Amino acid sequence: MTTASMAWTPIRLRELSVPNRVWLSPMCQYSADRSGAPTDWHIAHYGSRAAGGVGMIMVECTAVAPDMRTTAQDLGLYTDDQVIGHRRLAEAITSIGSVAAVQLGVAGRKSSHGVPWANDGTRNAIPPEDGGWQPLAPSPIPFAGLAVPAEMTTKDGTRVLEDIERAARNAHRAGYEAIELHGANGYMLHEFLSPLANHRTDEWGGDPERRMRFPLEMVKAVRAGWPEDKPVLVRLPAADLLEGGLTADDMALVATRMGEAGVDMIDLVTGALVPEALRVAEPLHNAQYGPRFRAAGVLTAASGMISQAHHLDQAIPELVDAVLVGRAMLRDPYWALRALDAEPRASWPKQYHRAF
Ligand SMILES: Cc1cc2nc3c(=O)[nH]c(=O)nc-3n(C[C@H](O)[C@H](O)[C@H](O)COP(=O)(O)O)c2cc1C
Repeated sequence: MTTASMAWTPIRLRELSVPNRVWLSPMCQYSADRSGAPTDWHIAHYGSRAAGGVGMIMVECTAVAPDMRTTAQDLGLYTDDQVIGHRRLAEAITSIGSVAAVQLGVAGRKSSHGVPWANDGTRNAIPPEDGGWQPLAPSPIPFAGLAVPAEMTTKDGTRVLEDIERAARNAHRAGYEAIELHGANGYMLHEFLSPLANHRTDEWGGDPERRMRFPLEMVKAVRAGWPEDKPVLVRLPAADLLEGGLTADDMALVATRMGEAGVDMIDLVTGALVPEALRVAEPLHNAQYGPRFRAAGVLTAASGMISQAHHLDQAIPELVDAVLVGRAMLRDPYWALRALDAEPRASWPKQYHRAF
């Protein structure tokens, strides 16, 4: 890896220039305060990755409404107090030199469970009597171990779209420069798309075009609350990796429609609709789908097992336009600077120069 590598070149998304293409993947910290606002943990966690040379910090899945949280410890963007907390976080990230972005979460049926470390990494349902809530989804089909979701009515749908638009407006008020709508990992948008989770017989279910109607409304709701000159990303499954589930061809069509609806970049992951979805554990396993989605006329990004510096050159530009690194950056906030392997005084923060 050298400084000439494309990973370290800027990329433009609408009017936003991101200084490099190595970004922090959104990762829930389950550490919000009681009001759903960011805490000192978030400032320290994201601030150190910003100091670690990451081009864009994608702040974790942040709920658009209380019943769209995964856990009671999730961040939210549905109250003014939350906006104040996010403003402090976005300012910290920006002042350290990274681009502050936030992922908007609409959990759907994968909602109202405990934090992963409370139950050996698996999701345990928290019922309303213990502080949980009733999950809402396209069809009343539960995710393993969680409550049976209520089937969404037209009125619920209108409310969810209003929640999304308000959260987008709040993200702008907080000073974020990019938004990612979470449309993967088995959350509501993904549930609408997949025939395995959407059994509706109304205008929001049926063939692929009908199943993508509500997801496209979700995208339009983000765009309605978000300035024209700021970019919108959507995290999508490249495929369900399940018999009878979404294929890469299905998803390339969704990406095309989303591009037409104002999405600038598709961030690819795979699987996670149900626990049995195939789990591929190879470097770049999601990025390999990139060229197919680029053909849809959108910019592409991917996360997934990117942990070595040479993976960056394998991914960019051939497969995707940018990468999001998750667990490797949990282990090491300076992962990007170490991967860059340049003259330390040119790339590391000046406060650390005496270390070299
Ligand atoms: C602790 C943890 C929390 C995560 N939270 C989110 C999240 O909030 N939103 C999301 O889209 N993906 C989430 N993910 C998935 C990561 O963003 C990433 O796509 C995945 O870990 C694969 O990338 P990696 O191999 O670099 O870790 C999470 C992953 C981890 C390990």
